Amino acid sequence: MGRQLIFARSERIYWCTMTENQIRSLQQTAAFIKKSYPHQPSIGIVLGSGIGNLSHEIDIEFQIDYSAIPDFPVSTVAGHGGQLIFGNMEGKKIVAMAGRFHYYEGYAPDQVVFPVRLMFFLGVKTLLLSNAAGGMNPAFKVGDLMIITDHISFFTVNPLIGPNAENLGARFPDMSEPYKKHLIKKALSIATQNKIVVHQGVYVGVTGPTFETRAEYKFLHLAGADAVGMSTVQESIAAVHLGMDVFAMSIITDMGIRDEDNKITHEEVLHEARLAEPRLTAIFKGLVGSI
Ligand code: HPA
Repeated sequence: MGRQLIFARSERIYWCTMTENQIRSLQQTAAFIKKSYPHQPSIGIVLGSGIGNLSHEIDIEFQIDYSAIPDFPVSTVAGHGGQLIFGNMEGKKIVAMAGRFHYYEGYAPDQVVFPVRLMFFLGVKTLLLSNAAGGMNPAFKVGDLMIITDHISFFTVNPLIGPNAENLGARFPDMSEPYKKHLIKKALSIATQNKIVVHQGVYVGVTGPTFETRAEYKFLHLAGADAVGMSTVQESIAAVHLGMDVFAMSIITDMGIRDEDNKITHEEVLHEARLAEPRLTAIFKGLVGSI
């Protein structure tokens, strides 16, 4: 597991994230899934911390444990399931990841994004990402929803580092619209129709696993971010690289910039995510129906 040394030439060593081997492995894993589930999902959904109930909205046709999928990483965090779920939602064929992989678990960035790339190999064109995040914008409060309009990824590792698979995506992908404006517009109108209050803002991806210090939250807010989390940016970079349309939304599970002496815990994050999940689910369902 991890990075593979692919070749050494003229004293240089090339480490690779999207090797011939990985492409072959993605093709083989997609073929393995297609033997059990011959349909082509057009939309992929990644369920973040405490957001697993969204899977109950899927008319499930096939589900498989990560541990039964060749070359798939296995989730290690409490609160993250570990299944790929295929079925129908709002008349669309979708695939959902119940449980995602984080860099802080010790996975290499290419393992973190393996499932997103697999979704692409299965035919997914649109990726919907959800997460729990710490709020830094003073207009936010715990339990709010934030549509991600842009991100800052410098505080984690870019999953495209390494030789590029030119046939799959550009060496230097444009990131001027990582989260598609037309999907944001649809989500905003679905929120209005359902009387759900949503914020829009910038998400900054960090490695974790520590929550941020008070000084770090302030710094990240000064850097231009409204919310911070330990996921999402690597997945959206991999998806944009492959030409997928991406939409992402955060549940604000804690406020990083605060006057109280409180501590932030994973349990609190999961609790708040579960409470806010029905509103996020309503928007995701509406979005799936409208794509
Ligand atoms: N920081 C980083 N990641 C998070 C947070 C946070 O405050 N809340 C939920 N995920």
